[in-house]
This record gives sequence, structure tokens and C-alpha cells, in this order.
Amino acid sequence: MIFGRVKPLDAILATAEKKSLHRTLGWFQLMLFGIGCVIGTGIFVLTAAGAQKAGPGLMLAFAIAGAVCIIAALCYAEIASMIPVAGSAYTYSYASVGELLAWTVGWALIMEYAIAAAAVSVGWSGYFSGTFLNEILGVQLPAWLAAGPLVLGGAPGGLINLPALIIALLVTGLLIVGTSESAKVNAVLVLVKVTALTAFIALTFTSPDFDASHFNPFLPAGVFGGFGSGLGAVGAAATIFFAYVGFDAVSTAAEETKNPQRNVPIGLVGSLLFCTLFYILVAAGAIGTIGGQPIMGPNGVPFPTGSEELARQCATYAADQLPLVCSNEALAHVLRQIGWSSIGNLLGIAAFLALPSVILVLIYGQTRIFFVMARDGLLPESLSRVHPKFKTPHIVTMLTGGAVALGAAFFPVGKLADISNAGTLYAFTMVAVALLVLRRRDPSRRRAFRVPAAWLIAPLTIAGCVFLFLNLPYEAMLFLPGWGLLGIVIYFAYSRSRSHLGRGIVEVVDDVAGEQTMVPIEPPAG
Ligand code: ALA
Repeated sequence: MIFGRVKPLDAILATAEKKSLHRTLGWFQLMLFGIGCVIGTGIFVLTAAGAQKAGPGLMLAFAIAGAVCIIAALCYAEIASMIPVAGSAYTYSYASVGELLAWTVGWALIMEYAIAAAAVSVGWSGYFSGTFLNEILGVQLPAWLAAGPLVLGGAPGGLINLPALIIALLVTGLLIVGTSESAKVNAVLVLVKVTALTAFIALTFTSPDFDASHFNPFLPAGVFGGFGSGLGAVGAAATIFFAYVGFDAVSTAAEETKNPQRNVPIGLVGSLLFCTLFYILVAAGAIGTIGGQPIMGPNGVPFPTGSEELARQCATYAADQLPLVCSNEALAHVLRQIGWSSIGNLLGIAAFLALPSVILVLIYGQTRIFFVMARDGLLPESLSRVHPKFKTPHIVTMLTGGAVALGAAFFPVGKLADISNAGTLYAFTMVAVALLVLRRRDPSRRRAFRVPAAWLIAPLTIAGCVFLFLNLPYEAMLFLPGWGLLGIVIYFAYSRSRSHLGRGIVEVVDDVAGEQTMVPIEPPAG
């Protein structure tokens, strides 16, 4: 049977036992970890794209995307407390809906993480060029080196986004030599980001430029812009969903958490609630001061973000008159517009310092998924080979870093974020499906945390994710099935016959540099 290869939970849990990490993390550390992974390009940069789609309705968009993520986080919390091992949605799917679907989830996650890392690199580039080069050093990067080409949605005169390419390669280099983000560095960067956003909220809300009339009309493109249009408040929600991506990293720390029943859900939901509140306030501050109405096309519909028409319209404004929706460094731009140039530059520096760590976490996450899939025999193990000196999976890291750098060099941030979101929404959906399947199949297994009213919350998560997916622009929506099809061809041509589970073996070790122990199991039917 094609869906018959389900990985036995006992084999997966043996992995966790073997690892037996110390339980040291409390809810506060988990929240810091979550916020560190989450706050990044989404709020610092995509605020502009979100406003172009929804106008002031961006605030509603942040609430919608936050709500979907919070219920998805509850599903993550339950499964993470039951299967606290690496691989996240891929592993959960393997244990519930079987190898084929797990493969598609892993395959989608590989794409999601890599493209998200490219998006954050482009976001970083906006702050690097705008704040660091332009405002601080007084150097203007030639247009052809500052953005991808117009045909791909870049800027007029753009050819390659050199800063984005370089940061992606630099972070890749760090990962190869074995830099992993330490909890201390993360805590400092969270402080930097939260301070920058708090200052932004305080200065915009108290600014004399703050004017309630800027919120009118509140929904210039409606709540619902039409499936595939990527417009309206829900279209914006599908894009700025990106601002919440990364919280699932908290679930991978379940094994190292004290009292996970209490602390994992608090860490997951707490970091998301915190970010949702901050994001809505930041959006309100930006729009209340300099306005955030979309640039409309001749038919009264906002120009699509990343489109040639929008780029041409934006190019007609002087730098200091730029509307919010055109800025590459939205938040710093707002502060400069309302007379706080030096604080705007400090905020730009905060983004400049903090975003690389988000890129690092994303590329690390991608190589980790790749590694776990290779360990299951589904991807070539030679690619996940560990470097003799640095003890890192250098080959896959290089491949990923190369792909991230290319994506970052040529594509605009909004398009990359939308494509990445498609993969994430698929993974979240499958986590909710896995929750329902495991509740049914294995009802008595210990779950340190149980989702209240799971029969409502899990289907709601699925519905919310599908709904957001359908509100992505068509091109992002179509990318996922295209990528999935390629994955399925690879699965049947390569992975299926090599699968360790299919051949009746499961390894029970979880460390990148650790030893593998092969445990024979009864091969599943199919
Ligand atoms: N949520 C992360 C960001 O916004 C990926 O950069």
C-alpha cells in the first residue's frame, strides 16, 4: 500500500531516549528562543508589501495570520511533547500519515527554509544599502547591484542584489565552520530587536504626525481580494504570515525543556502572542504617521507587489517622499519621515545586526531536515556527510547556501516570502493532520500536553492554513505543487527503494556528528 509505510513511534522515541539531553529550559528561555527565530524581515520589511495589499487593513492581516499560527502552535505543542525529536513536521508525518506524505512535507520544508532564508537576506540587503551604506557612510550602491532585475520583480535598473548574495554566502560559511547560535547571542539579539520595535511604537504613537485620518479608508482593497490575487486583508495575511514563521523551532527544543507540559505551550503560544501584539502596534504606528494606502492601478485595484508597474510607480518618488509601500526598509523610513532620522538609523542598525541570525537559523533548519531525511535513507547520505574537522554537514550546507544566495540575488523579498509561506502552510496543515491521526491511532500514549478541544482546533488549523494558501498570489500557490511533483518523481525514482524503513531498519540516533545504530524492525507492508 502506498501510504502504508508509517514509522513506528517506539523507534522514533528510542532516538530521543538515546539522546537524553538535560532538561534545562524554562518557558522564558523558550519564549526568547521563539522570538529570536520569529522577528525578522516580516515586520522590518514586509510591512511595506502588506500595506500595498491591504492598506491600513494590514493590522487586521497581522491578527489573522497570528491567529492561524497560534492554533497551529498548539498542535505543534502536543506533538512535540509526544515526539520530542528533530525533524519537526517531517518526523511527525512519518509517524502518522506515512513515508510518502512525510517525504512531501520534508521536501516542502527544504524549499520553505531555503527560500525563507533568501527572503530574509533580501530584507537585510534593504537595511544594509539604505541605512548602513547610504545614511551612515554616504555611499550609494549602483542600482544594478542593489536589486534583482525588473523582469523578476526587482527594481528599475536592477540586475543583481549583491549585498543579499554576500550575506547569504557569509552565513553559509559560518554554518560550515560550525557556528551555531548560542543562547546568549540570541538573548542579546532579541533584546536589540524588541528595543528597536518598542522605540518605534513609542515614537510613532507620540508623534505629532500621528493622525487617525490615515486609517481611512481602512480596507481600500477589501477584506477578501479574491483567491489567487494576493490582495485585501487576507491576501496581506497570507504574505505577512512570513513574519511568524520560525516559531516551530521551539517545538524542537521540547526534549530539553523542564516540565514540557506547561513550558512548551507557554513558549510557543507566548512568543506568538507577544509578536502578534507588537506587529499590530508597529503597523498602527507606521500607518498612523505616514499613511499606508496602496498605490492603485487604473482600475482601482492595488498594483501587485513585486510587479513591474509598482516598481515603476515607486521610482517616480523622491527618496524622502517615498510612500510606505515603496520602501525597502519600511520601519527606518517611517522614523526618518517623522523627524527621528538618527533613531531610524539605529533601528536600521538593529535590523542589520539581527537579521543574519534569522538567516542562520533558517539555513541550519533546512540542513537539519535534509540530514534527518538522509538518515532515513530518503536522500543521499553522501550529501549529508559530516566534515572531518568542522563536524558539520558541509556538503548540504554548501548546496543550500548556494541556492539561497541565487534566490536572494535575483528575486524580490515579497515573492520569496510568498513562495516560502506556501511550503510552511503545507507543513502546518500536515502537523494538524498528524495530531488527529495520532489521537485516533495511539490514544493512550503519553502526551505531556494535550490540545484542548483538539477536534475543533486541529480542523480549524487545517482550514486556516488552506484559506491563507488560497489567498497567496497564483505564482506562489502554483510553485508548491510544481515543487511537490518534482519531489514525488525523486521519491519514486530514488528514495522509495532506498528507504531504511522500507528495508526494515531504523536508526536511533539524532546527532549530526553522532554515531548511528541500526535497529532491525519488521518491514511495513508496501
Ligand atoms: N519570521 C521570520 C522573519 O520574519 C522568518 O524574518
